[in-house]
Amino acid sequence: MKVSRTAQIRLVSCHPEVYEPCDDSFALVDALLADREHLIEHRPSLCMELGCGSGYVISSLAIMLGELGCGVHYFATDINPDAAQVTRETLEAHGLHAEVISTDIASGLRKRLAGMIDVVVVNPPYVPTPEEEVGCKGIAASWAGGENGRTVIDRIFPVADELLSEKGWLYMVTLTANNPTQVCRMMKEKGYASRIIVQRSTEEESLHVIKFWRDGVIANSAEGSDSWLSQFPFKSFWRSSGTSA
Ligand SMILES: C[S@@+](CC[C@H](N)C(=O)[O-])C[C@H]1O[C@@H](n2cnc3c(N)ncnc32)[C@H](O)[C@@H]1O
Repeated sequence: MKVSRTAQIRLVSCHPEVYEPCDDSFALVDALLADREHLIEHRPSLCMELGCGSGYVISSLAIMLGELGCGVHYFATDINPDAAQVTRETLEAHGLHAEVISTDIASGLRKRLAGMIDVVVVNPPYVPTPEEEVGCKGIAASWAGGENGRTVIDRIFPVADELLSEKGWLYMVTLTANNPTQVCRMMKEKGYASRIIVQRSTEEESLHVIKFWRDGVIANSAEGSDSWLSQFPFKSFWRSSGTSA
C-alpha cells in the first residue's frame, strides 16, 4: 500500500467559512516536501502554523516529520474559530495531534513559546484589498491582506522573530504584489537570510514560498550563503512552475 507523504484531501474537513486547500496551500506543502530531508536533519521539537485554515498544511507537516516520532509537538492558530475547529477535525481524521488555538496570529502564546519554535509555516492572507477588509470575520480573513497585501504579513514577521528558536526556520507564501524582494531586505535587516523554495506562476499570480533563517546559522549545507537576494538576478529564468532548491 502506498504511504501518503502529505495529508489526504479526502480526510480534510471543511466548512463554508473556512479556506479550502488551494494552489497556495499546495505550494507551501510542496516547499516543505522539497525541504523534507533538511527538516528531518533539523530535528525540530516545536512546529507551528499561523493561519491554519483547514489544517491541511499542519497535518502534512506532521506526516512528513512522522519518522521523528512523538518528540515533535505541533501548534496551529487561526483567527477564525471555525478554522480552528476544522483543523482539529482534519488532524483527528489523520490520527494526528496539535494544540489548536483560535487567536490573532499567536496572541496569548508569545510569552509561553518565545524563542522555542523550530519551524513556523504561514500561508497568510496576502491579496491586496481595502484596509477595512483585513481581519473581517469568517472566510474573508483568508485572503484580505490590505495595502499591497502586506498588512497581516508585516504583523507576522515580528511575531515569528519572537517565537523562533535560534535555529528556527520560517516558511512563508508571498505573492509578487507583496513585493517579496522588499520583504527579504526587511528581514535581512533583522538578521535573516532567505531562499525561495518553490515558485509557481499562473496567469493571475506568481507565488513564492520563501524560507527564512537567522543569518550566520547554517540552514543546511546547500544554503550557507545563498539567499533570496543573491537568487534575485536569476528571477527571469523562473517563469515556469517548479522547485528552485
Ligand atoms: C490563505 S488562508 C490559508 C489557510 C491554510 N493555511 C492553507 O494554506 O490552506 C489564511 C488563513 O489565515 C487566517 N488568518 C487571517 N488573519 C489571521 C490572523 N490575524 N491571525 C491568525 N490567522 C489569521 C485565515 O482565517 C485563514 O484561515
